[in-house]
Amino acid sequence: MPTIVSGDGCHLTDDRGRRLIDVCSGPFLALLGQGNERVITAMSDQARRLSYTYSKSTRHGANAGLSARLARLGGPGLDRVHLTSGGSEANEMAVKLLRCLALTRGQPERTVLISLNPGYHGATVHTLGMNGDLAGRATWDPLTIPSRRIPAPLAFRAPSARAAADASIDALDDLLDEVGGDRVLALMMEPIGGQATGVNVPDPSFAQRIRSRADEHGFGLVFDEVVTAFRTGAFLAAHHDPSARPDLVTLAKGLGAGYAPLGAVLAPEALVAEVAAGVGFQVSHSYDANPIACAVGSAVLDEVVDRDLVSRGAELGVRLRAGLREIAATSPLIGDIRGRGALLAVEIVADADTLLPFPATVDPGAALVRRGLDVGLLLYSRRQNQGRYGDWLLVAPPLVMDDDTADTMLDRLGSVLAGSADDLRGAAPKSSLHPGRLGT
Ligand SMILES: Cc1ncc(COP(=O)(O)O)c(C=O)c1O
Repeated sequence: MPTIVSGDGCHLTDDRGRRLIDVCSGPFLALLGQGNERVITAMSDQARRLSYTYSKSTRHGANAGLSARLARLGGPGLDRVHLTSGGSEANEMAVKLLRCLALTRGQPERTVLISLNPGYHGATVHTLGMNGDLAGRATWDPLTIPSRRIPAPLAFRAPSARAAADASIDALDDLLDEVGGDRVLALMMEPIGGQATGVNVPDPSFAQRIRSRADEHGFGLVFDEVVTAFRTGAFLAAHHDPSARPDLVTLAKGLGAGYAPLGAVLAPEALVAEVAAGVGFQVSHSYDANPIACAVGSAVLDEVVDRDLVSRGAELGVRLRAGLREIAATSPLIGDIRGRGALLAVEIVADADTLLPFPATVDPGAALVRRGLDVGLLLYSRRQNQGRYGDWLLVAPPLVMDDDTADTMLDRLGSVLAGSADDLRGAAPKSSLHPGRLGT
């Protein structure tokens, strides 16, 4: 790994003097890039005024300010806010809030969680139990309360996105029959995938049908928007389809944008009022709503709103997609380009005709990342479940990236793929590929 010594805008510089374009904003995070003066000023002003006070025994303006801004952006139905220090904590808090709701309603038997495989929700012990990661299950499932997983509606390699959604919903219906819908506490899902699926964009019917199952059986639907918030052409992916609104939304990453650890749970006013009048919600972390983190979050949102970065993300996404398509026209390594707005992924395949992935012994993403460093790119690649679902490069640059930098990034990416094709395909001859590696 390169040792990064400084950053400016969309670039990071390492100790060998290499200036690298940050292709994925870290892990979909640094949406304002480096050195944003407005955020830095807000952070230092807040630190001088009030650096810390405990959120369980005091209120403070930075918390109220950020919560009000988030509630406004979340809109009706997502108008109450709980602030955390990151995505895993936010997801756990969402589950805890729903548990308190179930107890308030006299439904203590609601304990079953459902999530998608593959999928990613965090690295705390509880969120590890919700991740759809076959490789992690042997290690973590004995230690946590594993959620029940249904297949994610992976559109690539399925006959169609709709067919993939149908198969997932059939699995959900079978599961609800097996465990009983009245025992389910929540279904947590990424509305559009992140690193775990290579930005899978489900058929719209998927979330709509999950919404109807949640209504029918009375469990909570949580959208994990830790990756998707800000990036998909709307503040939240949940805003794209009013007929598939979640009960709760979690976000993190872009909210602190790398300047402070920060996450949030957005919840409906009525749900919060019901819990408050019932068993209450007596759980907190010492750093919840840390004043400096809150000041950062408000300044990030000011930048996002004043510079209309959500629209910029959509615009940037169109440019990136067009450039990636041009690269794909001559690269045998690209099997698919997908995503929404400035949240994109490139599926790397070993064979462009059959779209088969690389064998477990060859990690194409790691090779591309190494080559990227030589041409001034900091790339982010993932293979999920040891490549069982494929390999991808994630393309989600800072939303402040200008067109010239985006074009330079695409040129360099084209040269990385062109320069790696022969080596990678030589390491994975056709005879080593077989479809048995694909599947659930
Ligand atoms: C979709 C999703 N949810 C949750 C998390 C966990 O967030 P954090 O790393 O801030 O705990 C991540 C992190 O990558 C993520 O991608």
